[in-house]
Amino acid sequence: MLADELAAHDLRYHQQDDPTITDADYDVLKRRNLEIEARFPHLTRDNSPSLKVGAARAEAFSPVEHGAPMLSLDNAFADSEAEEFDARIRRFLRLSPSETVGYTAEPKIDGLSCSIRYEKGVLVQAATRGDGRVGEDVTANVRTVGDIPPRLLGEGWPDVIEVRGEVYLGHEAFIALNAAAEEAGQKTYANPRNAAAGSLRQIDSTVTARRPLSFFAYAWGEISAPFAQTQWQALGLLKAWGFQTTPQSERVENAAGLLAAYARMETERPKLAYDIDGVVYKVDRLDWQQRLGFVTRTPRWAIARKFPAQQARTVLEAIDIQVGRTGAITPVARLHPVTVGGVVVVNATLHNADEIARKDIRVGDTVILQRAGDVIPQIVSVVLDERPASAEPFAFPTHCPCNLQTPLTTETTVSGAETVVRRCTGEFACPFQRLAHLRHFVSRRAFDIEGLGEKQLTAFSERGWITDPADIFALARDVAKMDELRQTDGYGETSVSNLIAGIEARRHIALDRFIYGLGIRHVGETTSIALARHFETVEAFVGGAKAASGQMASAAYAELSELDGVGPTARDAILAFARDAADFLIPPDAALEERLRLSIPKLNVRTREALAGRYETWDAFQSAAAEAASGVPGEAFLEIAGVDQVGPVAARMIAEFFGEDHNRHLLDKLLEQLTVIPAQRPKADTAVAGKTVVFTGALEKMTRDEAKAQAESLGAKVAGSVSKKTDIVVAGPGAGSKLKQATDLGIQVLTEDEWLALVG
Ligand code: IVH
Repeated sequence: MLADELAAHDLRYHQQDDPTITDADYDVLKRRNLEIEARFPHLTRDNSPSLKVGAARAEAFSPVEHGAPMLSLDNAFADSEAEEFDARIRRFLRLSPSETVGYTAEPKIDGLSCSIRYEKGVLVQAATRGDGRVGEDVTANVRTVGDIPPRLLGEGWPDVIEVRGEVYLGHEAFIALNAAAEEAGQKTYANPRNAAAGSLRQIDSTVTARRPLSFFAYAWGEISAPFAQTQWQALGLLKAWGFQTTPQSERVENAAGLLAAYARMETERPKLAYDIDGVVYKVDRLDWQQRLGFVTRTPRWAIARKFPAQQARTVLEAIDIQVGRTGAITPVARLHPVTVGGVVVVNATLHNADEIARKDIRVGDTVILQRAGDVIPQIVSVVLDERPASAEPFAFPTHCPCNLQTPLTTETTVSGAETVVRRCTGEFACPFQRLAHLRHFVSRRAFDIEGLGEKQLTAFSERGWITDPADIFALARDVAKMDELRQTDGYGETSVSNLIAGIEARRHIALDRFIYGLGIRHVGETTSIALARHFETVEAFVGGAKAASGQMASAAYAELSELDGVGPTARDAILAFARDAADFLIPPDAALEERLRLSIPKLNVRTREALAGRYETWDAFQSAAAEAASGVPGEAFLEIAGVDQVGPVAARMIAEFFGEDHNRHLLDKLLEQLTVIPAQRPKADTAVAGKTVVFTGALEKMTRDEAKAQAESLGAKVAGSVSKKTDIVVAGPGAGSKLKQATDLGIQVLTEDEWLALVG
């Protein structure tokens, strides 16, 4: 059913920040649904998207009820619909055709809407839209957004005001974020809007703080007193109170003004540093807005005129294969240059082999190109009528394009939809991967070596000067080679001495950058910072990681603990169950989920579903659990996996990395060149300095994040799980297995109040 299809797309878009269709395609579906409902109202289903705004809330943030509901806008796609909007308003207000109606025409910012509550001018709470009535509390994250004032400036603001607007990510920030994610082997975002949504909905606000989110204010919710007569005046006041408002907004009159504003915005669109997906028209007079009111969930006084998707046709000239740092193979389309929405496009991503096969994309084809979310061009479809007779289906390579011709392996990642990643296993032997590794090593968030970009790295590796990171530091001190470089075209005295200075400046490097620079899969910036804080010195980190490599878990344990939906608590409950192997009186024909519920009562629905999805039968589950229980990893491994922000997958990657002889060798060689600066010495003169603390159960006086930040600022380490190294467990109501572990291990257990007394 159309409604179900739309509901599924809504879920992917709103909750998972990971849509599978373009906005334009979504709008077509939504419109069809509305048309059917308009003709056959009795067919309107309970889950009809026309009855809701946005989607249901995700569970991780606390719910916030909006003071006034957050509404959605009706869409218009053609000039005639904009004219009809103006006519409708005139009919409703009984205005004569000669009367002037003023409107604001504002760019429709493509981000996510947010409501920020100010009381007596002070920011007290911020929430996402959620289902329009109840959103998610994102106050801590919103406080990190530079465009959002913690206190309103100026005067004249009502005592209570919910300021509303759009949180978004600019193009430059989006590209940098994805580049960093790609380098870290993490998932990239499809477009700036998903990236903004993903960034705002981070559980850890320090992650949000590192994402340069922006905000435009354009509306308000609850207010304790009226503060303006018109929308235009209100925008001016929001600006005076310290917000950014969209500079492209203008005040126009009548239908002709609406059309002109749209045309102007369309020409400005390609020049903007952020995505807009249309123009919002609003009746300017607020008393008229009041009279016009709402229909279900959309105001009568406003409408969104959407831009059509930006598409173009061109010829696919070649499909190249790119090899990433981790060996992942990505096909890239080389296109005959074409302009899409004001930008010349020559490359498009083809994602993977499946995508090429599914769309049957062949070299020589004429293809329809689309800039999804306006940044990454994608191939939407092939114009079959124009396919040259000679075009052959694309044969995906079976070997790495490098001179070693390493056979590619295939690997299935289960991330919502199954995707097959092909990988070259050549690692440092593969010149492409080596180069990608070096690029990562010198990148901004890693060693940040100025003057050593892609061009120089390629040139130096072709000369055989650099094969691994340690060579970079040796090169800077190699007088003969530097002299040779001075004689080379394109490298003058200045650029060579700058290069040397750039490298020398990084011979002293902070531990977190050092770890991140190693380019271990799943060890991104946040993980590296957490590891650096935990181990403090490079010696402790390397020692711990080497030890962990000999203590890895069995495959069954790794699989169980890495299963989406199985956290440390559930894992421990399953292992305990497998060890006890108690047989309960359970109807043997019960479904796996039901048997799980009866035999391991601690598991929640999500975990039971995940287990049922993976193991299918009770026998398969039982033997996997038994194998997992007999293959529990050692202390050193658990120490890494237990570091907050690290977890079992990254721990396994680290252990595997340090288990490889060539990696250990490269590392020793690199360490000879460097001085690694220990992570900032935590405070030593507090009651909890140097202690490892675990918080479990509910906290009542502060949030987990707040408690963690406070403990860390006092020099404590906060861990996610209890081990022999834990010094203090702070247990609140509802504490379970961690509290039990702590008591078993004889670790000091404190209540929240006792903890607060201890830290003062
Ligand atoms: S006004 C009652 N103004 O578009 C109307 N919305 O489809 C409240 N949006 O939820 C919204 N730019 O996320 C308004 N200048 C603008 C906007 C804008 C972007 C978004 C907003 C809203 C959605 C409606």
